[in-house]
Parts: sequence; structure tokens; C-alpha cells
Amino acid sequence: MPPARVLRATATAALLMAVTTAAATVLATSASAGTTLGASAAERGRYYGAAVAAGKLGDSTYVSILNREFNAITPENEMKWDATEPSQGSFNWSGGDRIVNHAQANGMRVRGHTLAWHSQQPGWAQNLSGSALRSAMVNHITQVATHYRGKIYAWDVVNEAFADGGGGGRRDSNLQRTGNDWIEVAFRTARAADPNAKLCYNDYNTDGINSKSTGIYNMVQDFKARGVPIDCVGFQSHLTNSAPSDYQANLQRFANLGVDVQITELDIAGSTQAGAYDAVTRACLAVSRCTGITVWGIRDSDSWRTGQNPLLFDSSGNKKAAYTSVLNALNSGPIISPSPSRPASPSPSSPASPSPSVSPAPGGCTATVSLQTWTGGFNATVRVTAGSTAIRSWSVRLTLPSGAVIVNTWNAAPSGTSGTVSFSNVSYNGQVSAGQYTEFGFQADGNGAAMSPTCTATS
Ligand code: G3I
Repeated sequence: MPPARVLRATATAALLMAVTTAAATVLATSASAGTTLGASAAERGRYYGAAVAAGKLGDSTYVSILNREFNAITPENEMKWDATEPSQGSFNWSGGDRIVNHAQANGMRVRGHTLAWHSQQPGWAQNLSGSALRSAMVNHITQVATHYRGKIYAWDVVNEAFADGGGGGRRDSNLQRTGNDWIEVAFRTARAADPNAKLCYNDYNTDGINSKSTGIYNMVQDFKARGVPIDCVGFQSHLTNSAPSDYQANLQRFANLGVDVQITELDIAGSTQAGAYDAVTRACLAVSRCTGITVWGIRDSDSWRTGQNPLLFDSSGNKKAAYTSVLNALNSGPIISPSPSRPASPSPSSPASPSPSVSPAPGGCTATVSLQTWTGGFNATVRVTAGSTAIRSWSVRLTLPSGAVIVNTWNAAPSGTSGTVSFSNVSYNGQVSAGQYTEFGFQADGNGAAMSPTCTATS
């Protein structure tokens, strides 16, 4: 039997451990009252977005709500096939560019919507079939994803390709009639054009475990098994009164396949709207790979569901009970460090080793750079890692290779485009927990070469 002194020391150590563990647990799960949807979601490593119409960016009420509350945007119609390629081979970027520029100027992510869909095709594409349509689809995806390369957080590569009803099979469409492999061809084409965007499959009536969502589940499982590049699944969630009781379980079963899940077009009609918004928000927070929520419009008057008032702000721009419900639900979730915003496993064309790192000091940070290069250009992904204490903001300074000029930056604000450039955090990724990291990136014209970043932080 051990002497009493040893027992006392063991008990004290055990108590200390218990107290330390409890403190760590409290730290990891304590809620913070974010005051806007975007800020609260960001504290929880997620985004909160809205579908936006370019034509409304001159409406001051609309824009003030957008800029105050949201940190992600999906163009409601401006990146669809009929908008971007109204005649074959002739592209119109005006609406999409307006939205992307607004997002970049305000530190918001962009969900691209959508590269291949049976609906909202331009008339010329509707009249194509067979190999001519397949080629047109591949060219369309290549052109659009290349134009927006480096600016898109996630693309809805394929939208609504599964049939409603009991079979769990594909929807008939001109695209489907080009061959069952059209979806994987679309994903491979998108990956080649923008290796850093997350690539999503997006659909509706898939919000619970049903034959349609199971058909998609089987496709995702097959894609993962065969190496078809898919990173995420979007659940549109156009709901009335409530979410299905197995909403969270459905998100989780997809996440378990190794993809992110996102709620992509949320709107909820009906008298129990506020409670349903609460349930959907909590379901996303409960699934670690649920990376964000997008509502399909800002005010009720902006909704495609005319007269159903399914959104978070009334037609005058006032917060509704549903808004408070969402904000409270977000604020109840555990605070976690921002998740990296790049895909976990991109397929870089020519990866370079990250630059060497040193251990970050308490309160400090380190930065490393990974390059993906092609002839005449490169993407740089910069990882900012906090030291042994959390940081509140960071800045990374580096000197670009001679002659290189930055053309796009995501998840950071650059001080310039050539020579020595400082990149500051944006609204949603300044806070990084001890030992955790966040990533930003930029695309440049010129030849990629090793860079030596220095990182400074405030704690
Ligand atoms: O801009 C023209 C306008 O000039 C014209 O006078 C008017 C007359 O019809 O049409 C206007 O365009 C409309 C456009 O919305 C902008 O308001 C189109 O007709 C109309 O078809 C289009 O509807 C969009 C719908 O997709 C098309 O399928 C909705 O705004 C948009 O919210 C909706 O979004 C879809 C997602 O992409 C996919 N999931 C379902 C979701 C809701 O239907």
C-alpha cells in the first residue's frame, strides 16, 4: 500500500488534472455572443452567406444588411449558363464580376452557382445534344471556372441532376442524355480549371434521408472510391414549417463519406419558421464538416418564393423572429478556430514544398507558402499558424518573385500587387486559436518561386 504522502500527491495531481481538463473543456465550448450572423458563424469556423442579385447592389438598405450580416455570397442568377454564355463561345461576366468584386472588397467568400444544370441554359445549348452538347458543357465549365479561378470558395459544379420520386436515379435532361458520366466529367473539368475551389454537388428535396438523397449519397461514395474530385455536397433546404427530423443525421452521413456539407439555399416558409431556422442552424453546428449556411435572399421581398416571406429580414429590412432564432442558435455553439478555407486535398498541377517554418512564439505566428505553378502564373497558399497563445489579428509580409504581379487574393487584404506586399487578415479569419492555423491565398501572373514570409500578430 503506498504511504499517505504519495497518496496525497497522487490525489493532488489527479485533482489538478481534472481542474485543468475542466478548464480546457469550458474554454473550448464557452459561447460568445456574436452580434451579427457572419461574425458569430466565423467564431464557430463557419460562414453565413446570402444569395445576392447584382441588380440590387445599388439598393442601400439591401447592401447595408448584406455588408453587416453576411460573410459569404452566392450569385442568385449571374453565374448560370444563360447569364455567362448567352451565345456560344461569347461570354458575359458583368453580373458575376460585380458580385465577386463586392465580395472581395468586403472580405466575403463566394460560392459559385452553378456550372452545369438542366435549367437556365441559353437557347443555343437547349438545342444541342450528344457530343456537341458535351463539348459545349466542358468548354463552358473551363471558361467560367478559369475566369473566376482563385476567387471562388466553392463551386456548385452540378446542380439538381437527380430525379424526384422514389427511384433515387438521375433526372432526365439533355445533359443526362449525353451519357451517365457527364457529372464526373463536369467535376474533373472544374478541378482542372480551378484546382483550389471546393467542388460541390447541389440539390433540393435532399434534406432528410430519402431515396433521392440516398441516390446522391451512392454517387458521392462511388466518386470518392474512384478518385473523381468532389469536396462537398450542398443541401438547398427550401423548407416549409420544419426541417425533416433526420436532417442532422443526413448531413452527418454525407460528412462521413469525407466531404464537406453546406446548407446552400435556405429559406423556410410557414408559421413555425423561427423554430425551423433554429433547428437547421443547430444541425449544421453539430456536424463538424458543415462549413456554412447560405440563405436564398436577404429580405422577404427579395425571395423567389413570392408572398411566402421565408427569409430572415422583412421587406423593410427589419430583423424578424427567425433572425433572432438563427443568431441565438449560432451563439450557443462552441467556439472553434477558423477552418482552413481551401480544400483538404486539391490536385495541384505542380506542387512545391511549403517553405520551412519555425516554432511560433507565444502570441506570435508563423507563415509558410505552398505554390501551384503553371506557365506564366501561379497560386500561392499561405498558412498562418498561431503560437502557443491565441491571436486576434495577423499580417504576413513577403516579397514576390521578380516580375510577378498579383491578380487575385482570397481570405486576406493585400497592400499592393508587386514587390514586397503585406497581407492582413479579413473580418472572419483574424482570430486563430493557439497552435491552429488559417490559410489565405493569391494568384499572380509571372513565374512562381520560393518566398520567405514573415508573420506578425496581435493577441
Ligand atoms: O431579369 C429578368 C427580367 O429582365 C425579366 O423582365 C423577367 C421576366 O420574367 O425575368 C427576369 O429574370 C428572372 C430571374 O429569376 C431574375 O429575377 C427569370 O425569369 C427567372 O426565371 C429567374 O428565376 C430564378 C430561378 O432560380 C430560375 O430557375 C430565381 O431568381 C432564383 O432564385 C432561382 O434559384 C434557384 C437556384 O438557382 C437553384 N435551386 C432552386 C432555386 C429556386 O428556384
